[in-house]
Amino acid sequence: MTQLRPAREADYDDFARLFAELGAPDPPPTRDKWRDEMAPASVMAVRDERVVGCCYAQVFDDTGYVRILVTDASARRTGVGRTLMANAATSFRAAGCTKWCLNVRPDNVPAVTLYRSLDMEVTHTRAALAIDWAAVERLPASDRDTRVVLDASFDAQTEARFSLHRGQLGVARTLPGRVIVTLLAATSDEVVAVAVFDRSFPCAAEFRVAAPELARPLLQAIRPHARPGDLQAKMVLFDREGAEAALVAAGGVVRMRTLHLVGPLG
Ligand SMILES: CC(C)(COP(=O)(O)OP(=O)(O)OC[C@H]1O[C@@H](n2cnc3c(N)ncnc32)[C@H](O)[C@@H]1OP(=O)(O)O)[C@@H](O)C(=O)NCCC(=O)NCCS
Repeated sequence: MTQLRPAREADYDDFARLFAELGAPDPPPTRDKWRDEMAPASVMAVRDERVVGCCYAQVFDDTGYVRILVTDASARRTGVGRTLMANAATSFRAAGCTKWCLNVRPDNVPAVTLYRSLDMEVTHTRAALAIDWAAVERLPASDRDTRVVLDASFDAQTEARFSLHRGQLGVARTLPGRVIVTLLAATSDEVVAVAVFDRSFPCAAEFRVAAPELARPLLQAIRPHARPGDLQAKMVLFDREGAEAALVAAGGVVRMRTLHLVGPLG
């Protein structure tokens, strides 16, 4: 029988073991990140006193975001994944969410089948890229004058402009090591780019630009917040904005593609 319980700091080793099953191009989050940020928002599935699954989720206003779902290889197809998703849905509803979402690789048949069975549908594709900081100067220059905003004064406009989830930037601002970099057109104050940059990962988990040539000034605005030893900028692009070709032409490498799925919570 599978039991669910809140995650604890001491679950880190089990979490790291399960994280490897995701096939992500990054190493597991650090013990500190698990303790401070992820464990308080995670649920562990336990069977016969052994951890067999984990679900890490966030709530953005009316949207529940399943960030990580993974079950132990030895326990697959025995209902653990569905149980964790049902629990997430219950928690999201209790928090007032009306929809939920997540990201999944297109070729991950077990996961895509599970999510589609829960009425989730693809809304867009995403590409995770990396580019050397030294290559940023090779990106096309923008002829638009922009100014950088780091505080929350344009968050609502930014979320609406770039189809981010309502409340997403506000939650990101509460998390350790995050910098929200927004670019405004200097003359009109129109929001033209945003990055949600996690210094410790390090990656801009959201990187959205109104035009490909804005990738360069956005990366230049992130750079002062990067750790000195990190040689690469990593980012997750939203497909419709067309910056991927410019980044790849400048030497960027696509590390992974994912689908973004959204479903009603009813
Ligand atoms: C995706 C994953 C979480 C599913 O967990 P699970 O514990 O095996 O899931 P369940 O046993 O509850 O199965 C739930 C449903 O998923 C689907 N599913 C699971 N495995 C499947 C497979 N091999 N082929 C097709 N569908 C599958 C089915 O719809 C299944 O329902 P059913 O058994 O009633 O037909 C698990 O395979 C996993 O951890 N994979 C590696 C990590 C990963 O890819 N995580 C998701 C990242 S977005």
